[in-house]
Amino acid sequence: EQKLDFINLNDLEKEAEAIIPKGGFGYIRGGSEDEWTLRENTTAFNHAQIVPRALTDMENPATETDAFGLHFKTPLMMAPTAAQGLAHSQGEKDTARGVAAAGALMAQSTYSSTSIADTAAAGNGAPQFFQLYMSKDWDFNHHLLDEAKKAGIKGIILTLDAPVDGYREDDLRNHFQFPIPMANLTEYSEGDGSGKGIAEIYAAAAQKIGPKDIERIAAYTDLPVIAKGIMSPEDALKAIGAGAAGVYVSNHGGRQLNGGPASFDVLPSIAAAVNHQVPIIFDSGVRRGSHVFKALAAGADLVAFGRPAIYGLALGGAQGVQSVFEHLNDELKIDMQLAGTKTIADVKHAKLTHFPA
Ligand code: FNR
Repeated sequence: EQKLDFINLNDLEKEAEAIIPKGGFGYIRGGSEDEWTLRENTTAFNHAQIVPRALTDMENPATETDAFGLHFKTPLMMAPTAAQGLAHSQGEKDTARGVAAAGALMAQSTYSSTSIADTAAAGNGAPQFFQLYMSKDWDFNHHLLDEAKKAGIKGIILTLDAPVDGYREDDLRNHFQFPIPMANLTEYSEGDGSGKGIAEIYAAAAQKIGPKDIERIAAYTDLPVIAKGIMSPEDALKAIGAGAAGVYVSNHGGRQLNGGPASFDVLPSIAAAVNHQVPIIFDSGVRRGSHVFKALAAGADLVAFGRPAIYGLALGGAQGVQSVFEHLNDELKIDMQLAGTKTIADVKHAKLTHFPA
C-alpha cells in the first residue's frame, strides 16, 4: 500500500465510487430524503469566517491537544461508522491502524464488521471509544459495555439520534442489504446482521430512549458516557443532567432528520449552554482544515468526520486512512498559521466573523 494521491477530501468520493459496489457506496455516501441537511452540513461553514492575522511573529503551529484526559496529535477524530467491511476487507482493523498512526482518536461502531476486541487490538494501544446503539435487550447492552471495558476502550458514545433509521432513498433504490456480518451481533439471538436491510437491523435497537437510559448506562460503566446526536442546548443540558460526561454535536452526517439544521449552525448555542462543564465532540460535513478550525473556534474540543475516512480506507487501507487524517491536519496547520494561532488552545479562542454568505 502506498500513499493516496489526492488534492482534497472531496476528490476521494469519486475515486471511491469507482471501487465500492453500488449498494455499499450508496449506503456510505447517502443522506436521508432529498439530502438537504447533508448538503447544508458543509455549506454552513460559510456562515462564519476566520479572520486572517498579520504581524503575528509566529511559525510552526502545533495541533497537539488533550480531551477526556487523553493526549492526541490532532483534534481530528474518526466518527463511529458501521460496516466498514463494505469499503475494505480489513474493515475497522485497518481504520484503527490508520487513525492510530495519525495520532487521532478512533471510535468503533456497534455495527462494526470486526469485533470490539479485534479492532482495539489493531489500534495497538492507541485510545479508542466505543459507540453504543442501545438495544431493547439489556443483557446485550451490558455484554457490549463489558467487552469494551475488557478491550481497554476509553469512552462510550451513546447515539441518541437514531431511534429509527432515517428515510434513505439510495438504500431503497438499491435494495441494499448488508452483505457482511456485524461482528458484535453474532451473540445476538436474531443473527449477525448479514442479509438484512438497515430497517431490520435498527428494529432490534431501542426505539425509545430517555434520560433514564443515560443514567442506567452511566451507572453500569465506569467509562465516560458521551451523548451523540445532540442538536439543541436543551438536550445538551438534559444529557449532562442525566450523567453524560461529554456532548457530541452531530446530525449523523445528514442521514437521520432531513430538514434539520447543519450541525455547525447549532454548535455555538450548545457550546454556550454547556459552558465547559464537559468536552464537546463535533461532526457532520467536515471536509476542510478551515471547517475544523471553525468548529474548534465555535466550541468543539474534538472534530470528527466519517465518509472521507471510509473512502480513504477503500482506496488505500490503513495507509489511506492515515493519509486522509494527515492531509486534513496539514490543511488545518496552514489555516492556523494564516490566522496567527499557534496552538489548538489559540484556535479555540479565535473569534469568527459573520458576514452574510
Ligand atoms: C455513520 N454514522 C454512524 N453514527 C453512529 O453513531 N453509529 C453508526 O454506526 C454510524 N454509522 C455510520 C455509517 C456511515 C456509512 C456513515 C457515513 C455515518 C454517523 C457518523 O458517526 C457521523 O456522525 C457522520 O459520518 C458525520 O458526517 P460526515 O463526516 O460523514 O459528513
